[in-house]
Amino acid sequence: MKILIINGPNLNLLGSREPEIYGGSTFEDYFSSLQFKFREVELSHFQSNHEGEIIDQLHQAQDDFDGVILNAAAYTHTSIAIADAVKAIQIPVVEVHISNTSAREKFRHTSFIAPNAKGVIAGFGLKSYELSVLSFMEIDE
Ligand code: DQA
Repeated sequence: MKILIINGPNLNLLGSREPEIYGGSTFEDYFSSLQFKFREVELSHFQSNHEGEIIDQLHQAQDDFDGVILNAAAYTHTSIAIADAVKAIQIPVVEVHISNTSAREKFRHTSFIAPNAKGVIAGFGLKSYELSVLSFMEIDE
């Protein structure tokens, strides 16, 4: 299984940005541990501060990946263009957030992406990404 993690604006600053909310680890460090944990999954990671680049990656992803884990960051609450791209592509997209956006400012309670996402995972710190990977896996009961 091939999964692409897309991180939106300001997530390149993880580790130094508001660590009380987003934690003290860089995404690169976390991503290495994620790859180690899920050795059977082919994980890739892309980050951009630009809306159009995120849309281009979503379009491209349907040729190269089985699914996308998308943290559109602040674009979650503003971007109809990214929401449309999520709707347009043929592979599932899981929306992810590090913080519990529902417990924060009101403007973070709206997600334009959620209605077109397979599901939403938020509020578990960087572990939200791990839970998102798990959501793509078939778990034997
Ligand atoms: C975020 C939540 C957004 O509201 C915020 O703009 C971000 C990060 C999160 O992962 O908790 O940049 O998506």
